[in-house]
Amino acid sequence: MFKRILPEELDKNVFNAVGRQWMLITAKKADGSFNTMTASWGGMGVLWNKNVFFCFVRPQRYTHEFTEESNEITLSFFEEEYRDTLKICGSKSGRDCDKIAETGLTPINDNGIVYFEQAETVICGRKIYTDTIKESGFVDIDPSQWYKGDFHTVYICEIKQILKK
Ligand SMILES: Cc1cc2nc3c(=O)[nH]c(=O)nc-3n(C[C@H](O)[C@H](O)[C@H](O)COP(=O)(O)O)c2cc1C
Repeated sequence: MFKRILPEELDKNVFNAVGRQWMLITAKKADGSFNTMTASWGGMGVLWNKNVFFCFVRPQRYTHEFTEESNEITLSFFEEEYRDTLKICGSKSGRDCDKIAETGLTPINDNGIVYFEQAETVICGRKIYTDTIKESGFVDIDPSQWYKGDFHTVYICEIKQILKK
């Protein structure tokens, strides 16, 4: 059972959670379809006096269609036993396969947002700012090591609720 906690009660180290544990970014279209993908870049903090998370989705991801259409994005975090699930969701595209069938994940539809029963923590956000990474913005690092024209879309989302098992 999930219980709602305050952002101040979240006891996650963001570097471990995002960079090592990884997360699923999930969004749902108005027609009810949704997609999810693994991400290990992103973060959380405070901006414009709001608690926010930010995540980065390349335009060629199928998930991008969903994060573009929806104003709601969820981040789902899992225990280590779900590493293979995260590997599948990070290597296969929802365009080509049914990730839910392949992983056995159980989606929960909750007032227009989707997250997963198996998650240990879910952070639900509402977009407040989006932009595209720009080549001209790079200082002292070479973007060509990261991009071949496929600059990430950045989503900054106000944290609306955090659910923890
Ligand atoms: C550990 C890991 C981290 C990833 N992080 C990101 C990320 O932050 N942003 C991104 O656009 N893709 C990231 N990816 C790649 C997508 O998860 C991958 O391309 C996925 O198959 C996209 O699925 P989709 O086409 O169904 O959206 C990551 C993959 C892995 C394995």
